[in-house]
Amino acid sequence: MKTGNIGLTNIGQLVTNDPDREGLLGVIESAAVVVADGLISWVGASSEMPDVPDVVDCDGAAVIPGFVDPHTHLVFAGDRSNEFGRRLRGESYEEIMAAGGGIQSTVTATRTAPLGELTGATLERARRMQAAGTTTVEVKSGYGLDLEHEKRLLAVAAAAGAAVALDVVPTFLGAHAVPPEYAGDAEGYVDYLVETVLPECASLARFCDVFCDEGVFTVDQARRVLQAGKDHGLIPRLHANQLARSGGVQLAAEIGAISADHLDHLEDEDIALLGEAGTIAVLLPGVSLSLQLPQARGRDLWDAGVVVALGTDCNPGTSNIETMPFVVALACLEMGLSPEQAVWSATRGGALALGCEDRGQVLPGAQGDLAVLAHPSYVHLAYRPDAPPVSQVIKRGMRV
Ligand code: NIG
Ligand code: FE
Repeated sequence: MKTGNIGLTNIGQLVTNDPDREGLLGVIESAAVVVADGLISWVGASSEMPDVPDVVDCDGAAVIPGFVDPHTHLVFAGDRSNEFGRRLRGESYEEIMAAGGGIQSTVTATRTAPLGELTGATLERARRMQAAGTTTVEVKSGYGLDLEHEKRLLAVAAAAGAAVALDVVPTFLGAHAVPPEYAGDAEGYVDYLVETVLPECASLARFCDVFCDEGVFTVDQARRVLQAGKDHGLIPRLHANQLARSGGVQLAAEIGAISADHLDHLEDEDIALLGEAGTIAVLLPGVSLSLQLPQARGRDLWDAGVVVALGTDCNPGTSNIETMPFVVALACLEMGLSPEQAVWSATRGGALALGCEDRGQVLPGAQGDLAVLAHPSYVHLAYRPDAPPVSQVIKRGMRV
């Protein structure tokens, strides 16, 4: 990816997430930032900014590190508004899934979509995410569920990263659901994944994920897939405790997963275990909003010292949400995080959840990924949740 040189001046409030500065967000008022060859090279008072040929005058707006969205199912075809309507009329997500809807319907739509259509829809989503300040995004496969189509999804994810100035971090999620060819034979599908699909897909992904939950994959099945992924060099992460307290947290700790995601069903002991294991909690408030269910215990996780990240979980079923500013607003207004916790979790938290230590912070040496807000302060992301949130995005020092 190309890199650039740029300076940002007259920043009313700069969120640095620098642990050597005061407060969780390490805010500097009346600040400036310089990016050289794609990396942050200088941070300080606007009045002291060194000379830079290309300068963005932020005119008092707030600037934050680009959002890092650590959990999306960006590559899909079709639309599930019909199912969404059924849920609002009283059916549950699990009932619709058991009746052959849910993930299966998106698998059919995605398998049959022409490549150009699937790629085009994915690029459009990626561009909307980017316009709202996302500079790094995790993208899962999982709507292919066989060798040919899982590979196709990962190739489309890579194409999105190449076409949009956005880093795409790919995850293999072959164990998202049992496909119709293996109906009633989850074990047989896990054998197929481990023996045939994973070895071919591993070079296209960085992480391996499993939907480990009641009615989906058991802890034992998830362990087999994640261990096989590890054997192929993929870092484990998992969908855990979304539908029930299914043992996903214990498996995440046991297998050394970098993150456990969703976590809507948590007891105190699960929170303690995440803390002990150093597993990052990726919370997805758009899912609870969309499913009209209680939010995960984000405040309790923060209070227990667990590293919390926030993501969109962009997918057509449970969270048809693309932008991180909306997720920040939900985390504050629905989950009960403070604005500081929400902004940190949506930037540095996401970076840590993806093992991307080089971003989510504004300090010399960090990647030059920045979002100029259309607001004077980061609090406005929740205070004005329906206002356009971002006026300028910088990726590796380039205006995008
Ligand atoms: O993260 N939990 C599993 N996967 C998605 C839902 C996918 C779908 O319904 O299509 C999620 O919520
Ligand atoms: Fe998900």
